[in-house]
Amino acid sequence: MQRTLIWDLPTRLFHWTLASSFAIAWLTSEGDRWHAVHVFVGYLMLGLVGFRVLWGFVGSHFSRFASFWFGPREAFDYLRQVASGHAARHVGHNPTGSLAIYILLALALTVGFTGITTMGGDEQQGIAAGWFSFSQIRLLKKLHEAGAVLMLLVVITHIAGVVVESVLHKENLARSMVTGIKLAEPGTPVASSHRLVALVMLVTMLGFGGWWFSYTLVPQADRPAVKFVGQQLPDNAQWREECGSCHAVFYPALLPARSWQKMMAEQDKHFGSDLGLDAATTQAVLKFLVDNAADRHQTEAAFKIDRSVASGDTPQRITETPYWIKKHRDIAGADWANPLVKSKSNCAACHLDADAGTFEDGAMRIPKAPAAGTSGPQPAAAKP
Ligand code: HEC
Ligand code: HEC
Repeated sequence: MQRTLIWDLPTRLFHWTLASSFAIAWLTSEGDRWHAVHVFVGYLMLGLVGFRVLWGFVGSHFSRFASFWFGPREAFDYLRQVASGHAARHVGHNPTGSLAIYILLALALTVGFTGITTMGGDEQQGIAAGWFSFSQIRLLKKLHEAGAVLMLLVVITHIAGVVVESVLHKENLARSMVTGIKLAEPGTPVASSHRLVALVMLVTMLGFGGWWFSYTLVPQADRPAVKFVGQQLPDNAQWREECGSCHAVFYPALLPARSWQKMMAEQDKHFGSDLGLDAATTQAVLKFLVDNAADRHQTEAAFKIDRSVASGDTPQRITETPYWIKKHRDIAGADWANPLVKSKSNCAACHLDADAGTFEDGAMRIPKAPAAGTSGPQPAAAKP
């Protein structure tokens, strides 16, 4: 037996980058704060899978699919050998390990694509923005989550397999995936290290990362701290003027069209005021309200508010829709009493993007009450 290069450099680089990307994707899967990182590693994984499939045909001997083209039956036989403690040693991938690789590649593809479509539907962002509506995306989102859980299970099984195999054949398999070197019989095909391919891979990944995160390096006044602040919704100057004089404007997507129709029809009794708009203005403002109402599902909030309101109801207050109540019922009384908040309708006190109408998770926070006796910080501007 002699020390032989089995795993070429691109295969090792692929393996460890995929493993780290997967771990990072898990750690960043909750909340919008790390969304940009989550999406980045998602794209990275898709790119890596694409590379690995190609490398399975043109890579060095033990990286080629032809060298580990085992079926489930061989994998099962191998498991039986392992159970009896007399498993044959494979210099390349063993039959169960091979199966894990194919399953992982397929799952990574599935999770990557459903991730892109989920982002396109749920946040209306990324390359699939606009492909699906919020309601259509629910199944794809479930698939994305289920695929990730399945992948985690296969990864755990894979690691367990590596440990068992390492003990069984008294060799450190994880280390050989770092060094590429294993003990092998003379005559075993020796891998070429393919340094140039690995270098191109590395430069491509670093370049992609640099480009993706470049926005964090150049601070700009009009650029938000969180990259994903949402889409740009349609705007209307007349609506802003007529509906923003007594209170901050409430974006049309926060109530269904029938609520706006009723509100404009009864504009002389608008919460104790008479809006007094002439017919032409009423019609123009109503058109903007209806065109962008919750029923249009332009944002996640619109979709969820619309689904929460019973079809016969025409709520006149956003703060009385079931979705709004559900989302805000855990906020403490002291936070509502905060002089920076004062009223439930003061959306902008907690939602930095209230004026833009998007109500993204990343743009909300509860302001701290100023200490007694001090003037305290001023309420945040409504502009995101
Ligand atoms: C003359 C002043 C005035 C104008 C102009 C005005 N409103 Fe209001 N609006 C009020 C008052 C007062 C309330 C009740 C505020 C409260 O109780 O918190 C209110 C409340 C609302 C609410 C309910 C907010 C909630 O609690 O969910 C909506 C929605 C609303 N207005 C929409 C509009 C629209 C649309 C326009 C333009 C067509 C408009 N308003 C123009 C005075 C006005
Ligand atoms: C006191 C602060 C506060 C005020 C005022 C407030 N909100 Fe919120 N809002 C929150 C918090 C906190 C959450 C997140 C709740 C959670 O964790 O699910 C939230 C969640 C939401 C969501 C859900 C976002 C999503 O991801 O689906 C919407 C929509 C929303 N608010 C709309 C409004 C509107 C419209 C107003 C004004 C009429 C308003 N909020 C006023 C604090 C506030």
